[in-house]
Amino acid sequence: MPSNKTARSLERSAAMRDRARRVVPGLAQTFSKGPLSFVGGVSPSFVSHASGAHVWDVDDNRYIDYIMGLGPVILGHAHAEVNQAVATQLERGTAFSLSHPGEVELSELLCELIPCAEMVRFGKNGSDATSGAIRLARACTGRDKVARCGYHGWQDWYIGSTSRHKGVPEAVRALTLGFPYNDMDALHALFHAHPDEIACVILEPVTFDEPAAGYLAEVRELCHSHGALLVFDEVITGFRLHLGGAQSYFGVTPDLACFGKAMANGLPLSAIAGAAGYMRRFEEVFFSFTFGGEAASIAAALATIGVMRRENVIEALWSRGAALQQGANEIIGELGLREHFTWAGLAPWTTLRCLGPEAARSLEWRSLFQQECLEQGILTHGNHMVSYAHGPEIVSTTLNAYRTVFAVMAEALAGGGPGPFLRGAPMQAVMRQS
Ligand SMILES: Cc1ncc(COP(=O)(O)O)c(C=O)c1O
Repeated sequence: MPSNKTARSLERSAAMRDRARRVVPGLAQTFSKGPLSFVGGVSPSFVSHASGAHVWDVDDNRYIDYIMGLGPVILGHAHAEVNQAVATQLERGTAFSLSHPGEVELSELLCELIPCAEMVRFGKNGSDATSGAIRLARACTGRDKVARCGYHGWQDWYIGSTSRHKGVPEAVRALTLGFPYNDMDALHALFHAHPDEIACVILEPVTFDEPAAGYLAEVRELCHSHGALLVFDEVITGFRLHLGGAQSYFGVTPDLACFGKAMANGLPLSAIAGAAGYMRRFEEVFFSFTFGGEAASIAAALATIGVMRRENVIEALWSRGAALQQGANEIIGELGLREHFTWAGLAPWTTLRCLGPEAARSLEWRSLFQQECLEQGILTHGNHMVSYAHGPEIVSTTLNAYRTVFAVMAEALAGGGPGPFLRGAPMQAVMRQS
């Protein structure tokens, strides 16, 4: 039978939520950190601090963190070398009235590592990079429409094309056209339906399904045959699959690419990189803001990438991610759940996927998984955002915990589904692609 009580105190989280209710609409700064993304009543809402692969909530419960700040923390929380680089920069100032040499140094480094990068500009959030790339593509082609596949951030041009489009003008919404991944026919049809109107195709080169053989190269060819640019959104794949991003991993070079998240181990930094012929248009296209080039984040990125190169972090992400993915899939197999659940994706970034009829209640299953993981001291949305700090011991602790978690999932499956086993409101979708 499902238990109905958690051993952890969540009192301080609840008290802080009450305070937040009065002054913070939505209770969090990011939907993925707020109430929609966590099972009600059993989840902490506020974090006190973090170190390595661990995070402590405000009630002093410790968790192994698989959310890792929504992806940026690639080396582990509060990494000493990155912290030192930031501290040194803090001593020397962070926001200047002229450019800082670190901007040039980091641009040179990205040009060395990333195939499409001949020139680079920096932003703060991933949305800065994707929106800057869209504006640049529109300026370069003189076209207004954009074809997109995946998630690309909070700005009008993208979020207007999803179910969470309140506040985005209809005229803007009409300019962004969604297309399904791995479906060349659909993309051909889009170009034919909008001849000479599409400025660019922007897509996440991979999420949890691998590209079909030749898919990314064909997308590039199709774009170019229609005079459109290809933009890779590498906000998640960058500095995770490969130091040169998914474009290095898959061997397909886009015209422009957007980076964010992992490049500065948790400091706010993003980048647009691309072919010089396009990037030089930023001399006229407006991509300009007060904190562009802010020096502490640039210092963090130089330190982060330095550690990643020196210690071959990417290889560690692959091997630890694979150990987690394979271990979790073995447990699923041992419990006879293979028809219902699997861990999908490439090893450094995997997700719990519900299969067959269970896919229809995926959010409820992921909620049960989250709830039971919390009981085992694991903070998760049902993904493995693996970091360098997730060493073999963390992996083995996680897999031990999963034996208990998936045993509850098996019990729920036999007992009619996840609903009766949930002790609070399940997670909800933040938005749907439309
Ligand atoms: C693929 C992708 N692109 C863009 C973004 C937007 O980045 P940000 O939230 O930093 O603006 C995200 C954020 O999750 C993302 O996953």
